[in-house]
Amino acid sequence: MRKPCTILRDISLSIHPGERIGLAGVSGAGKTTLLNLLLALKGADAGSITCQGRVVRPASVRALRWYRRLVQYIPQDPASSLDPRMSVRELIREPLVRLNVVAHHDRRIDEALDRVGLGQKFLGYRPDALSGGQAQRVAIARAVALRPRLLLADEPLSGLDLPVRARVMQLFDDMSRLDGTALLIISHDLSVMPRLCERTLILHDGAIIEDRPTQALFEAPVHDHTRALVRAARLDHTVITPASTPSFHPVS
Ligand SMILES: Nc1ncnc2c1ncn2[C@@H]1O[C@H](COP(=O)(O)OP(=O)(O)OP(=O)(O)O)[C@@H](O)[C@H]1O
Ligand SMILES: [Mg+2]
Repeated sequence: MRKPCTILRDISLSIHPGERIGLAGVSGAGKTTLLNLLLALKGADAGSITCQGRVVRPASVRALRWYRRLVQYIPQDPASSLDPRMSVRELIREPLVRLNVVAHHDRRIDEALDRVGLGQKFLGYRPDALSGGQAQRVAIARAVALRPRLLLADEPLSGLDLPVRARVMQLFDDMSRLDGTALLIISHDLSVMPRLCERTLILHDGAIIEDRPTQALFEAPVHDHTRALVRAARLDHTVITPASTPSFHPVS
């Protein structure tokens, strides 16, 4: 039998409509574990999660359907999450049917495909006919078609070329600004946070050690660990800053 161990500690987190939050931390920090709790795929030993005033308990799939409609997920390795037997149309329709979403499904499918920049011709394609970047966008379209209130995305930009990255970032902007969707974006790499997220959390050894506006976190990291992550982001990548804000100065 495996010895019990504590993976997450003292997590306190509120996410408001339209907020874009980054969650960063090194490998093993607990990012996926936190994501699984937020998705109600796992239960915590202590504490609770509430959404729109209702407690989210580990419960049957049926009892959690209301929550599954509100909270969607873009997996880190989307190609492997797509059923190879299904066409793109069926893949985007499947969650709408499974979650009993009352809507014009074909319209939702067309709209979602358009929002991720894929043309109608892809509707009949199966995953093996898609490139990695196209498969990633189909996985994003599946989540977008449900019009979630909270979208959790695990490394959503990795593996995308620059024009597609820009398109997906614009989609996230639109979802938060126009639809009021809250976004929680996981990345081991801090360099994408200034462009994508107004607030960034740093997870370290299962605890949130920083939860601050992204710009402040970049300009004056409080913890040594955060300082190291910021420095690594600057060394490895060009930090993507929003067009409207000046570039951040390097941390010495
Ligand atoms: N089922 C489990 N049983 C025991 N330990 C686990 C289990 N799942 C995860 N862990 C441990 O919890 C810690 C956090 O794991 P987690 O997968 O959440 O990290 P992560 O931040 O997502 O890392 P990565 O960036 O590598 O994906 C790790 O030390 C891991 O070994
Ligand atoms: Mg992980």
